[in-house]
Amino acid sequence: MQNFEKFLLDNLPKSKSIHPTYEKALHEMLIAGGKRFRPALILGVVGAYNKLILDGANHVAFAVELLHTYSLIHDDLPAMDNSPLRRGKPTLHISYDEVTAILVGDALNTYSFEVLSNAPFSDYTRVQLIRELATNGGLNGMVLGQAIDCYFENKPLPIEDVKILHINKTAKLIAASLKMGAIIVGREELAKSLYDFGIKLGLLFQIQDDILDVTQSSQEAGKLTGNDGDKNSFVTLIGLDESMKEANTLANELEKELNNFDENLKNELSPLLTKYINRHRG
Ligand code: IPE
Ligand code: IPE
Ligand code: MG
Ligand code: MG
Ligand code: MG
Repeated sequence: MQNFEKFLLDNLPKSKSIHPTYEKALHEMLIAGGKRFRPALILGVVGAYNKLILDGANHVAFAVELLHTYSLIHDDLPAMDNSPLRRGKPTLHISYDEVTAILVGDALNTYSFEVLSNAPFSDYTRVQLIRELATNGGLNGMVLGQAIDCYFENKPLPIEDVKILHINKTAKLIAASLKMGAIIVGREELAKSLYDFGIKLGLLFQIQDDILDVTQSSQEAGKLTGNDGDKNSFVTLIGLDESMKEANTLANELEKELNNFDENLKNELSPLLTKYINRHRG
C-alpha cells in the first residue's frame, strides 16, 4: 500500500485559480489517511494474478478511494450525519464551510471517473470498470443507501430492510472493489463470485461500523462516535449483544468462503481479510 499512497499524492486533483482555498480543500480528506480498505481489495485481487499490472491498478484503486472519500465528505454534512470529525481531522464544513464540503464532494466524485477513464487498460476494460463504479457507487448503490439511511432516521425499519440499506450504502462499493480487481486481470468468472463475497463482507463491515459507533471513542475512531441514536443501525435496533452475534455469524461464513478461494487469491487476501473479518472482536 506504500505505492498506493505515493500514487495518491502524485495524482491529487489539481486546480489553479483565483479561489484561495479550493485546491487545498480538495486534498484535505484524501491526505488525512483512512484505512484504504477498498484500494487494498482491488490491489489484493490484482496482486494475486498479475503483479506486473499493479501500477496500472493503482489508477483504479485511486478512483474508488476518490468516490469513497466524496461519500464521506457528504455523509458528514449538517444535512446528513452532521459530524465535525473525519479521519482525525475537522470535517470540511467545519474547516471551511458547507459550500466547500458540497463542492469538494462533487469534484472528487467526477474526478474519480476522470481517473478511471485514463487508467492504462484497454477501452473494453475501462468501460467495464466505469460501469461497475457507477452502478455500485451511484443511484442504485451508495447514493440509494444514503437516501434510505437519512429518510428513515427515527423511523425504525425491520432488520431485513436494514440489511438492504447497509448493502446499498456500504457493501456494494466493497463488492465492486473486489469485482473491479477481477475485471482488471480479465477473470470474468471470478468477478461474480467475488462480488457476492464482497456483498457479505461489506454487510459485515457496516455492522462492525455500527458496533464501533458505541464501543470506540471519537478519538480512537477518528470520527464522531455515539452518533447513531437516530439511525437504523444494527446496535440501535437490536442492541450490542445481538449485533455482535450477527457479526460473528457473518465472520464465520466469510472465513469458510475465504478458505475455498484458490491458493493465489487466498495467500494474497488472507492477511487483509482476516484482519477486517475480525475487527469487531476488538
Ligand atoms: C466509513 O468507511 C464509512 C463506512 C462505509 C462505514 P471506512 O471505515 O472505510 O472509512 P475510512 O476510509 O477508513 O476513513
Ligand atoms: C456511511 O455510513 C456510509 C457511506 C456511504 C459514507 P456511516 O454514516 O455509518 O459512516 P460513518 O460512521 O460516518 O463513517
Ligand atoms: Mg451516514
Ligand atoms: Mg456518518
Ligand atoms: Mg457509522
